Amino acid sequence: MYRIAAIGGDGIGPEIIREGQKVLDSAGERYGFDLAWDEFGIGAERYLRTGDLVTEEELKDLSRYRAIYFGAIGDERVPPGILEKGILLRIRFHFDQFVNLRPIRLLAGVPTPLAGKGPSDINFMVVRENTEDFYVGIGSRFRGSEKKTLTVERELYHARFNLDIESDAEELAYQVGVITREGAERVIAYAFDLAQKRKKRLTSVDKANVLSDIYGLWREVFSGVATRYPEVSTEFAFVDAITMWFVKDPERFDVVVTPNMFGDIITDLGAMIQGGLGLAPGANINPKGTSMFEPIHGSAPKYRGLNVANPIATIWAGSMLLDHLGEPEAASAVVRAIERSIADGVVTKDMGGRAGTSDVGDHITKIILTG
Ligand code: IPM
Ligand code: MN
Repeated sequence: MYRIAAIGGDGIGPEIIREGQKVLDSAGERYGFDLAWDEFGIGAERYLRTGDLVTEEELKDLSRYRAIYFGAIGDERVPPGILEKGILLRIRFHFDQFVNLRPIRLLAGVPTPLAGKGPSDINFMVVRENTEDFYVGIGSRFRGSEKKTLTVERELYHARFNLDIESDAEELAYQVGVITREGAERVIAYAFDLAQKRKKRLTSVDKANVLSDIYGLWREVFSGVATRYPEVSTEFAFVDAITMWFVKDPERFDVVVTPNMFGDIITDLGAMIQGGLGLAPGANINPKGTSMFEPIHGSAPKYRGLNVANPIATIWAGSMLLDHLGEPEAASAVVRAIERSIADGVVTKDMGGRAGTSDVGDHITKIILTG
């Protein structure tokens, strides 16, 4: 038996997580394991009531799980940034989930906007660094008439920043990106390991031609790790160019490793070429700790409670969760069942169908139990 923490969150989050749980339970029934779900009432609703985002107590509780199944957060009543940073990023950082793994794979029967491309052309993995870069939360904003000192101490980055800032501009804002050798090394090694199990091709993304300090270090670390994997062929790509190649030649990619912010951007592009945000799963992984599995899309508040949201990204993220727990057979059965369900035409409106969120979950469940 596996105990799993579930955080439905906001908007469509609870509905899609419910379908995911249904499907994973059926995979357990079919492949001989039980899942026990513990629900955490984290999200906008509670934040508005009590002011709590994620409490210390909850972080302690969550640390007892190997996997968290996460819906989505974001609510129109809360200013942007509060829930994202206070809940989603807080969990990713607290549990040091340094790998954000995002498959870009066009499933059979799903239309892609890329003319002439099919499932055999669009099948790669993006390994997004998930704890550093411009996500470290070091930045500030001030008026030129003030003089400001910013001091930040972060154990995680082995660094202490002490910046004296003076300016004669009317107002100034800045944000610091940080990459450490340790932080780059571990995620790049993860990507090499993954490439080794696949087609042995790894692409590294950066913008070392302009942001040469931060991504110069990234490149140097990549080249160093590469010497330990002589069988894997490698290439560097600038982030602007990679957006072009994702569209023009997606078949050339096997595994792509990228710093945090570029990874955020290019995986939304990836989601589109694999058929839309409703089909794009993600895993935040700490191989030795608590990992978290979620769709890469947001909470779509305007569709809340309407039973129209596409649950496939979440169900697929659930498959990644099973794989992570060591149930690869059940995991691939879930993805196969998603494909069957698409072939049967049981799909939501975003995919041109008429099925509701729960119809899709029910149908996939049925396929798993009878297939
Ligand atoms: C994602 C999201 C998050 C990110 C936001 C909601 C903080 O866009 O998971 O891609 O930027 O990582
Ligand atoms: Mn994003």
